[in-house]
Amino acid sequence: MNVPDLNWEELIFGYTPTDYNVRCTFQDGKWGEIEVSDSVYIPLHIASACLHYSQQLFEGLKAFRGKDGKIRIFRMEENAKRFIRSAEGMLMEPLPVDLFCKMVREVVKLNERFIPPYGTGASLYIRPLEIGITPKIGVSGASEFIVIMLVTPVGPYFKSGFKPTKICMTREYDRVAPKGTGSIKIGGNYGASLFAGEKAHKLGYANILYLDPKEKKYIDECGAANFFAIKDNTYVTPDSESVLPSITNMSLQQLAKDMGLKVEKRQVPVEELEEFEEASACGTAAVCSPIGQIDDLDTGKTYIFSKNGEAGPITTQLYNTIRGIQYGEIPDTHNWCEIIE
Ligand code: PLP
Ligand code: COI
Repeated sequence: MNVPDLNWEELIFGYTPTDYNVRCTFQDGKWGEIEVSDSVYIPLHIASACLHYSQQLFEGLKAFRGKDGKIRIFRMEENAKRFIRSAEGMLMEPLPVDLFCKMVREVVKLNERFIPPYGTGASLYIRPLEIGITPKIGVSGASEFIVIMLVTPVGPYFKSGFKPTKICMTREYDRVAPKGTGSIKIGGNYGASLFAGEKAHKLGYANILYLDPKEKKYIDECGAANFFAIKDNTYVTPDSESVLPSITNMSLQQLAKDMGLKVEKRQVPVEELEEFEEASACGTAAVCSPIGQIDDLDTGKTYIFSKNGEAGPITTQLYNTIRGIQYGEIPDTHNWCEIIE
């Protein structure tokens, strides 16, 4: 295998070119064959529904090079199911779970040389996306779609890695509407969050914590990641119809139970931030990113979760356990990883 000349330890969460992507087109009422491409471009009609009316959705998952040298993909079927839910929400053609998984396996194998070596802390990020390609000028849905899967080796999502970050919250901006598209993974949600995210970055914050868009009383989620917190041996995470149901969060809830913690998925009022011993963002990209401080930009209040610049003990144990499973260091008792031969 011709190993690329990359500085794996220095990788950030960004795009590095790889060898191939895979594609599959839905046309004449059926999905075609999986095509392998070495081009990073797509020929598109200038009136394509994705360009005009945002008929687009995506996913994010990772493949890991384990301690035993094997390749593991984490909970791929869950991403496949969410891809279907997102498609249904956007009036797009759902890609069958089997086809989703087949495409993921293929794109990972084709780009095997880009899977970061064990011990570098990096992984191969897999980005499936689907777009509506039928020309549309009247506002209606496409009848033809392309699914593309690309991969890119990535490092940590936050520059600080596993060091607690400082984030902010404000009632000035919403990521999504109360009955909107927050619970599915579509580009529009991220486009709508760019302005607020950039403002937060300019103020020196790693991320922005969104409140529920209806009442602005409850914690929703943390940029492109879910939020969880620890108090009294309990893992607390928001239950909200405007957040994306995170596969990482679902996994951490299980691991928390395995560790003997109680798990509460419920509304989390902003005032409860005072009571938490630890707080964290979680997601495929973020894994488990401890939050050291939250500044409320509207009230001037500050909530501190790390006084010594280190993550709390439970967040650390959760992080080590999920990473351990993903890198094949500890037994995968829940069968979350698929090993690619
Ligand atoms: N919330 C949002 C808005 C996200 O973009 C993501 C990333 O996928 C998550 C949460 C975390 O979800 P998951 O753990 O499935 O990656
Ligand atoms: C992920 O965790 O996969 C994300 O979606 C994060 C982001 C880069 C969109």
